[in-house]
Amino acid sequence: MNLILKKRQLTPEIAWFEVEAPRIARRWKPGQFIIIRPNQDSERIPLTIVDGDPGRGSIVMVVQAVGKTTRITVAKEEGEYLADVVGPLGEAASIEKAGHVLCVGGGVGVAELLPVARAFRQAGNFVTAMCGARTASLRILDEELRQAADEVIWATDDGTAGFHGNVVQCMAAWRAQQNAPPATVHVIGPIPMMRAAADLTRQWGVPTFASLNPIMIDGTGMCGGCRITVGGKVRFACVEGPEFDAHQVDFDELIRRTNAYRAQERLVLEQHECKLKLVN
Ligand code: FES
Repeated sequence: MNLILKKRQLTPEIAWFEVEAPRIARRWKPGQFIIIRPNQDSERIPLTIVDGDPGRGSIVMVVQAVGKTTRITVAKEEGEYLADVVGPLGEAASIEKAGHVLCVGGGVGVAELLPVARAFRQAGNFVTAMCGARTASLRILDEELRQAADEVIWATDDGTAGFHGNVVQCMAAWRAQQNAPPATVHVIGPIPMMRAAADLTRQWGVPTFASLNPIMIDGTGMCGGCRITVGGKVRFACVEGPEFDAHQVDFDELIRRTNAYRAQERLVLEQHECKLKLVN
């Protein structure tokens, strides 16, 4: 059981949690993740470790309410418990001194970008964080990003803040104004966004890493749930990733596998919401 020490509601659907997890806080590295179960009868969900404080014995995670389990998690409050938190899992992000690093995040991926951007900056790089949101009020962790990166550029779909358009269109417009391409690009977010970003940086000729988010079950390389194809080879995101060369990832297969259980997920969510209405 892991105690929720603090909660912030970042948007109506996205919540930030500081959770007691001293052993994970001592060992985690940027890019790694945890697998949690909010309740003992819940399914497991993988979440990026957004921050960790060994002194407080706590880690930070950010959750977007999408399906039944994420909704149950987002509904948790300070002082309540998560049934279990396992981690740190996966490989750390490859952080090196490259020069100018462009970190691109979309949706809740902005939270996942934060530790990676911070680590690149601490390694001596100039970091541009480029983030996408549907509208100005759905931008998250702006203040934290400004502390972690050298510059922060927002794109909003409706143009209410920053660049008017999606984050990949923003990348293209930004590049047109730069004298030179960035040395490396790191992308985290929805799969179509990562694929479009990878297509663009392939044209730029810039090495690009994507932090992938396939379906995960055990997180230990045993179940095969997170199988992906990178450069024609089968890889397991939970133990060999989640970061991979974005130009080599078979995004079509990743989308197919991620959508494989959509009908069941929709049904489980409908049943969950139906029970909530009965209770209320
Ligand atoms: S989650 Fe089971 S093999 Fe990766």
